[in-house]
Amino acid sequence: MKRLSWFFSCKRRVGGVRGYSASKKELKIDGIKHTIAIASGKGGVGKSTTAVNLAVALANKCRLNVGLLDADVYGPNVPIMMKIHQKPELNEDRKMVPIESYGVKCMSMGLLVENNAALVWRGPMVSSALEKMTRGVAWGDLDILVVDMPPGTGDVQITMSQRLLLSGALIVSTPQDVALMDARRGIKMFSNVHVPILGIVENMSYFTCPHCDERSYIFGRGGSRKAADEMGIPFVGEVPLEEKNRKGCDEGVPIVMSEPNSLVSTKYVEIAEKVMERIEEERQKLLYPKIQL
Ligand SMILES: Nc1ncnc2c1ncn2[C@@H]1O[C@H](COP(=O)(O)OP(=O)(O)OP(=O)(O)O)[C@@H](O)[C@H]1O
Ligand SMILES: [Mg+2]
Repeated sequence: MKRLSWFFSCKRRVGGVRGYSASKKELKIDGIKHTIAIASGKGGVGKSTTAVNLAVALANKCRLNVGLLDADVYGPNVPIMMKIHQKPELNEDRKMVPIESYGVKCMSMGLLVENNAALVWRGPMVSSALEKMTRGVAWGDLDILVVDMPPGTGDVQITMSQRLLLSGALIVSTPQDVALMDARRGIKMFSNVHVPILGIVENMSYFTCPHCDERSYIFGRGGSRKAADEMGIPFVGEVPLEEKNRKGCDEGVPIVMSEPNSLVSTKYVEIAEKVMERIEEERQKLLYPKIQL
């Protein structure tokens, strides 16, 4: 019996790259049930847009306690997209109090440093900033913390995967070949650090002409679904290119909030529901690992 529990505790040690390994208990942030990363290898594919709308959908449609962490230290967008600008205050435990917007508790480097100050930061400073923005925040009890990742597969992604207990990563891609190539790289990186892939979201799937209703597949058609099938990863949904979505980001009112009944908002709510299902599936896999004979 003792041997068996030792085996499972070893199996569950996560974040094991370059000799670093921490137990689940060490990685967990008190009070947070699940932490998920919204990622992709490529820049500009819609990670922040997805993270923001997903967080707002989870809070307002799925009625969960939600946090949103902007881990893009070099180019934080969450303050603009969630219309927040005030600096967080410290509580009596000297933890930063997250800023609440649209029912979501938010934290971003953009709230902590002056414009572009972080651009010259190197690896160790970034790691220390991420530590402060995760464990140094009074998140309270959260059902889910959504982490908006920067593009690429560098320092931030590896640090976050090693230092946080991620329930999974949701990969965002456009249907374009080059975006999918980078998405595959992102998937490989998370797999290397034993973070489950929750699925792929295809963003900017198509554009519907407001005059004639014809659909144009500007970045190609069906690429992400095909890539997901090839890699054996769930395809969790597609979001069309839509001007109101872009406008919502720029004006700081996510479309899920401003136009809850629009097609795009419906898509985000479906994605939110699928993400919660996928988290549960992955949790079950850990609880009841398949016995290999
Ligand atoms: N479905 C969409 N319809 C219309 N505009 C969109 C959509 N998704 C994203 N955008 C717009 O595309 C731009 C890039 O999106 P976003 O900032 O979310 O990408 P990102 O992957 O987070 O970029 P980065 O890698 O720089 O962090 C933004 O101007 C955003 O408003
Ligand atoms: Mg972004």
